[in-house]
Amino acid sequence: MQLHVANHPLIDHKMTILRDERTESPVFRSLVAELVNLLTYEASRDLRVQDVPVTTPVTGMVGKHVASPLPIAVPIIRAGLGMLDGFLQLMPYCEVGFVGIRRNEDTLQPETYAKRLPDDVSDRQCFVLDPMLATGGSLAATVQFLLDGGATGITAICLVAAPEGVALMQERFPDDNVRVVVAALDEGLNEHGYIVPGLGDAGDRLYGSA
Ligand code: URA
Repeated sequence: MQLHVANHPLIDHKMTILRDERTESPVFRSLVAELVNLLTYEASRDLRVQDVPVTTPVTGMVGKHVASPLPIAVPIIRAGLGMLDGFLQLMPYCEVGFVGIRRNEDTLQPETYAKRLPDDVSDRQCFVLDPMLATGGSLAATVQFLLDGGATGITAICLVAAPEGVALMQERFPDDNVRVVVAALDEGLNEHGYIVPGLGDAGDRLYGSA
């Protein structure tokens, strides 16, 4: 697994407002979209493209379009859904699949309760959306579903990662075909499984409910 920590003043500025406990859901949601825009730009550097002829007002040339088969976006329900709009603004040429994984709050282990992926994920580039890479269980399970289906080039886009989650991803996916692009790498997890300093429960902060 390759880890890429975005290192950019605009991302740091927006992340600081996002982390602030006083930031309310409407602002939180639009900041998430802006951050995902910026991270998607970084995450799509290796997006496959194909040559296409185009005629400008001056002459003909060969341009580029996103290649077929189209990439797949996979938000992990619930908090990953809050990243989908920002992702699709930059990458509208995508299919979208959904995975529902919740963390069992007693064992902190992931439980899959929904999975709706395109029929054929083989040889597709996939972008998994999950704001908080905490223990890494949900992300690792989703990446494994996609690899089992034959997907290639899986990139996860996260806002905050804990070293524990990064270590799990590195252990499960030693090859370079899995990448994680993250806005911030934090200190670690507390005894409740929350990232420290983190931003709290991303789903609650997006949707204003527990
Ligand atoms: N999920 C969250 O929403 N926040 C954390 O800090 C950890 C997991």
